[in-house]
Amino acid sequence: MNNSLNILIYILFILAINRMSATRTAYKGNILAIIGMSIALIWGLINLKSEYQIYAAISILLGGTVGIIGSRRTTISQLPQMVALLNGFGGLASGLIGISETINIPYLNFLQIFIIFTGCLTFSGSVAGFFKLSGLIKINDTETIRSTSIIILLLSIISSFYAHNGETEYIIGFALLSALLGFCFILPIGGADMPIIISILNSLSGWCTTLVGLSLQNNLLIIVGTLIGASGSILTYIMTKAMNRHLLKVLFTPITTNQSSNYQHTEQDIHKGTPQDAAFLMENAHKVIIVPGFGMAASGAQQELSNMANILIKKYKVDVKFGIHPVAGRMPGHMNVLLAEADISPELIFGINEINPEFKTADVVYVIGANDTINPLAKTQKDSTIYQMPILEVEQTKRILIVKRSLAPGYAGLDNPLFYEKKTLMLLGDGKKITKEIVTQLENDSN
Ligand code: TAP
Repeated sequence: MNNSLNILIYILFILAINRMSATRTAYKGNILAIIGMSIALIWGLINLKSEYQIYAAISILLGGTVGIIGSRRTTISQLPQMVALLNGFGGLASGLIGISETINIPYLNFLQIFIIFTGCLTFSGSVAGFFKLSGLIKINDTETIRSTSIIILLLSIISSFYAHNGETEYIIGFALLSALLGFCFILPIGGADMPIIISILNSLSGWCTTLVGLSLQNNLLIIVGTLIGASGSILTYIMTKAMNRHLLKVLFTPITTNQSSNYQHTEQDIHKGTPQDAAFLMENAHKVIIVPGFGMAASGAQQELSNMANILIKKYKVDVKFGIHPVAGRMPGHMNVLLAEADISPELIFGINEINPEFKTADVVYVIGANDTINPLAKTQKDSTIYQMPILEVEQTKRILIVKRSLAPGYAGLDNPLFYEKKTLMLLGDGKKITKEIVTQLENDSN
């Protein structure tokens, strides 16, 4: 029974990860993961010694309640912080298991030392990530913190030899130093790179779980940890590639997010449009590509966008497609999740490689709250943080409509030359409000 139940749980987790790889099936993936985790928790509880069962049940209830309340209160733009905390608790759990397994044993092996180190480092690094992403900590003097990290690293290595002898005070000292190292190591990393760091920490929390599984000879922990570790590593690779950032540079070279811009433009340099202009251009087009970015998420315009696409397709017979940049928004899949929430068919949604060749054949591109991901400076401005980041090539489309509230730069702090082009109409205002006005106009116009 034990083995077959374990195999059922492995299968559920593997299927869950597989389903989560596509927007259409992600919901089912989550359900499978919930079922798998529930079985694992109940089975684990039943198999515990009776004197521990009450503590475990209370912990599960407490953790579950905090998790439900926390996730319900988290807005979509706070998701990266939430993920950071989740990774952190995964690391903390591994670190604590590592410590509890080693207290009162004569000698620690390398695996146990490594579990304590990575678990504590993952926890404190994730907490630092949470503070940075929430804007609660801002670091100016990155160099001092980096030098301090090197000293702490040396101290942790030295203390690991003492901890190896199994004395409780040394083990706790080593754990605290590892935690301090994680905090100081993550603090100076540039804000623009934080989501990559969160992904690395996610992967690390998975590998910690695998190590705990190896140490306790628990196959379930080994499999679950490996799934998390491997998927986190793949995600890290995808993100660094999409942002054209080398992993070592992310970890060791701080970048600034508010670069001074080379463009000193005012609103007089742009061509302002109205929602009525936008509706006119789109209803008379054969092909419209919609490009959402972080501002779409910030304004919560997904439902209006869905309505707009539906009217264009059904009433005006326009060929409508959505183009999603892999790092549009603040998290991988940020845009896809929002569009799925608004029931936009996945068949209309295309990734960067599929949509880029289509821009030159489209009549209108409707950019809503996207900036860095469409900025042509990524191709030319060598000293910019987005240099060589692949972009959505909206500049190739005949007419460009850009919805944003001002001429302010995006996340990378760069001005965008597209705003000032002759073929661009700037619709200045909140993304949701403007899109809603366009929808009203499209409804009122006759085709
Ligand atoms: P951004 O370049 O950040 O631009 C978003 C734009 O939305 C801003 O220029 C802002 O202009 C506008 N905006 C904000 N609130 C708005 C509202 N209520 N209505 C309308 N517009 C609004 O976004 P992007 O193009 O999606 O690029 C994402 C950036 O995040 C990239 O630099 C990327 O490298 C970075 N990043 C992403 C990730 C992942 S995994 N997604 C990870 C790390 C870093 P106004 O203030 O003028 O309105």
